[in-house]
Amino acid sequence: MKKIFSVILFLLFVVFVNAQTNQQTLKASIDRGQKIYFKVCLSCHMLDGGGVPHMNPPLSQSSYVLGDKAKIIYIILHGLETREPIDDEYYSNNMAAHTDLNNQQIADVLTYVRNSFGNKASAVSVAEVKAVRSKKK
Ligand code: HEC
Repeated sequence: MKKIFSVILFLLFVVFVNAQTNQQTLKASIDRGQKIYFKVCLSCHMLDGGGVPHMNPPLSQSSYVLGDKAKIIYIILHGLETREPIDDEYYSNNMAAHTDLNNQQIADVLTYVRNSFGNKASAVSVAEVKAVRSKKK
């Protein structure tokens, strides 16, 4: 009986430490992503992720940002100039491809965007960016 109790305690400890580590990994990625956002994305999507009306779309509460991760990874890698409505609005500016960012930087900046400006969504991993990059256009 005592033994089972110790095993359960140990397992609870492992779960706890694991959760702590995941939180720290997420926070580190968000911190790195913020620096990239300030340098690369802020000029168009603005400090609060609100964008510029009719020019650059907002990232806060955007169905793109909160939706399919592969799609937003693709937009960073290849840019976007479809001029299709984004959440029922049109934007006149184009977004260039960000070929200078590596997989880690794209994962970090998108993890930051998905966890800022009132957004709450899962992290983007390096593996997910790699998978989209390896696909043909
Ligand atoms: C030159 C201005 C500019 C820069 C810099 C820029 N974007 Fe964009 N972004 C746009 C425009 C304009 C669109 C919409 C294009 C369209 O409608 O065809 C867009 C679309 C998007 C979208 C999909 C639509 C949405 O609102 O969710 C995401 C996500 C996004 N950008 C994220 C980023 C991130 C992250 C960075 C930095 C790595 C960045 N952008 C840098 C102008 C920019």
